[in-house]
Amino acid sequence: MIDPAKFTDEAVARLRTEVPGKAIIAASGGIDSTVAALLAERALGERVRAVFVDTGLLRAGEVERVSEFFRASGLRFDVLRAADRFFATLAGVEEPEEKRRRIGHAFVRLFEEEAERFGADRLVQGTIAPDWIESGGALRDTIKTHHNVGGIPSDMRLTLVEPLRDLYKDEVRALARHLGVPEAERQPFPGPGLAVRVGGPVTPERVRRARVANAVVEEEIERAVAAHTIPRPWQYFAVLLPVRTVGVLGDNRVHGEAVSVRVVESIDAMTATAMELPRAVLGRIAERITRELSKEVVRVLYDVTDKPPATIEWE
Ligand code: XMP
Repeated sequence: MIDPAKFTDEAVARLRTEVPGKAIIAASGGIDSTVAALLAERALGERVRAVFVDTGLLRAGEVERVSEFFRASGLRFDVLRAADRFFATLAGVEEPEEKRRRIGHAFVRLFEEEAERFGADRLVQGTIAPDWIESGGALRDTIKTHHNVGGIPSDMRLTLVEPLRDLYKDEVRALARHLGVPEAERQPFPGPGLAVRVGGPVTPERVRRARVANAVVEEEIERAVAAHTIPRPWQYFAVLLPVRTVGVLGDNRVHGEAVSVRVVESIDAMTATAMELPRAVLGRIAERITRELSKEVVRVLYDVTDKPPATIEWE
């Protein structure tokens, strides 16, 4: 475990040598990139600019929540609206690695444009150790290409700066607390967003379904945590599956979609355990998802697989 005060001093000194001019910061609203952004601001002041991209693949209320989170963390930032671009690049793509690659490229092209406007030649990212280890670094097989590692095009015009490269999640959380980031226990959300929680084609319609289902899971799990029914899980979300299934609504047959709910406990995301949930909590989640997505989603499953053999996200 790192000493947060010592790490901060060293990271600030390193950033000052690594960034001689200006830098853009890829800020996703997650803990990792927020901590990286705060270190960069501390080191470089007006020479950095944090950019948050609304990809159209975010959770319900995410833009507002992230903006509030940045303000409370004391970070200056700009919001870039780019949903059309992301849906266009994902059209017709179903293969998970190809989704990640295209999303990574779309992010980088946006950052390049922003950097050019700002006069920057560096891109600060919140990459942490598991991102590049699982993306095939350190002589390991590629588990999945994290968008901020393998999703980066080889002709990128910006030099990467990654102050948290060697840290694990629990260390980043300690650093976040040290830097005064509120709500440091917030669950992680993958950079490719709901695109990797929509199995099969990524359309605005299917992303909307995944968004509603994810909101239900978050609300019901947070309610159960607040009532001390369950401990706070590492991560809790819903995945829209690439299958059609038959349901019944009143007297009518409905050919709808299915959602899988995933709630896991973990320390650093390298391994995870599917959490045992009370039947009543699962029942409420299923009832709400099928009611709020009536005629669209007719079946809800609970994923009981640990990591390994499964990964946390489905794609
Ligand atoms: P997996 O699914 O590989 O996920 O077991 C481990 C942790 O990483 C998150 N994750 C990502 N985070 N970009 C990110 O920033 C990504 O491409 C990405 N893919 C997975 C996942 O939510 C889990 O917490």
